[in-house]
Amino acid sequence: MAPDETERFERYASELRALQKKNARGGPPSRALHAKGHVGAQGELLVPAGLPEPLRVAFFAEPRSWPVYVRFSNGSGRHQHDRTPDVRGMALKLVGVPGRKLIPGLEDKRTQDFLFIHTPSTPFRDPDEFVSFVRANTTGPALLLPRLLGTFGPGRTLRLLKRLASMPKPTSLATGPFYTALPLRLGATAAKLALVPVGPSGAVTGSASSLREDLVARLRSGPLSWSLRAQLFVDERTTPIEDASVLWPEDRAPFHELARLVLPQQDLTSASGVKLEEQVERMSFDPWHAVEELRPLGAMMRARAIAYRESVLERQAAPEPEDVVKLAAG
Ligand code: HEM
Repeated sequence: MAPDETERFERYASELRALQKKNARGGPPSRALHAKGHVGAQGELLVPAGLPEPLRVAFFAEPRSWPVYVRFSNGSGRHQHDRTPDVRGMALKLVGVPGRKLIPGLEDKRTQDFLFIHTPSTPFRDPDEFVSFVRANTTGPALLLPRLLGTFGPGRTLRLLKRLASMPKPTSLATGPFYTALPLRLGATAAKLALVPVGPSGAVTGSASSLREDLVARLRSGPLSWSLRAQLFVDERTTPIEDASVLWPEDRAPFHELARLVLPQQDLTSASGVKLEEQVERMSFDPWHAVEELRPLGAMMRARAIAYRESVLERQAAPEPEDVVKLAAG
């Protein structure tokens, strides 16, 4: 860790909070990033019996089903149309998980979160690049290029733009994979996690006008399932912890199934669905809501430890849930 790291990350967190306030335009603030939520839903994470040894960590050691809240989002701090290219997010919150948690003051909470985006690595090596990009992007696409050139210089700007242009542009969030993109501790080793859809993926509407409409229609017509997988650390060169821009190669570090995520059929337009969505929108999803055996790793994760706390304070997010409120049928 660089000696000035904490101070720098505190500055980044304050900067993101200032943007969060600005984006609120005097109204109630949304999240500093991932402001636009598509859907808040509930489901179960099913841990199978007999996982092999390196995967039998924390609650993955025993077969069990865990209640889960899920939030799908766009990455921007502004509420933009889904046609605008952006990172897509999927956040999970498991409820009832025992063990001491990492966030100071929340050690006794019973939640474990995992946060994913739709790309397996980020274009950014570290939080300095990440926050510089967010800063350059605040004034919209017209000023992005000159701002990037001013910050990163021509060579790095070109590489960043290439990476950003090659990002997949999903028309449904139920049919493509999601990745933690950053590593976390997995007991004695480290891992990156992925959620890979395993059919059925609900009704194919084709005509949905938004990512939300697509997900709501699919969930109304049937359950959605994903395989939660772990890609294990090999060595610092192949699977670096600190450089978030390096894709961990699947031929050297294949994914292994840890659990299944199932979102049962649910009608989010029903009275109880509306209530559930309001509840999820107010929650705080944070990779640091975690047990020690699943501690987030690397500089990007350490920057997040401060940034999420500030964003949550600014928008007065709900406290960690103790229980899952079951969605009534219909
Ligand atoms: C690859 C790395 C990252 C991933 C996978 C990721 C993923 C996500 C996701 C899925 C959300 C939405 C959570 C929700 O639905 O409530 C989120 C929110 C957020 N992210 Fe990240 N993120 C990453 C990196 C970062 C970094 C480096 C920072 C800042 C230094 C950051 C700052 C934030 C903030 C402030 C929020 C809003 C928190 C809240 O108010 O609840 N993220 N992120």
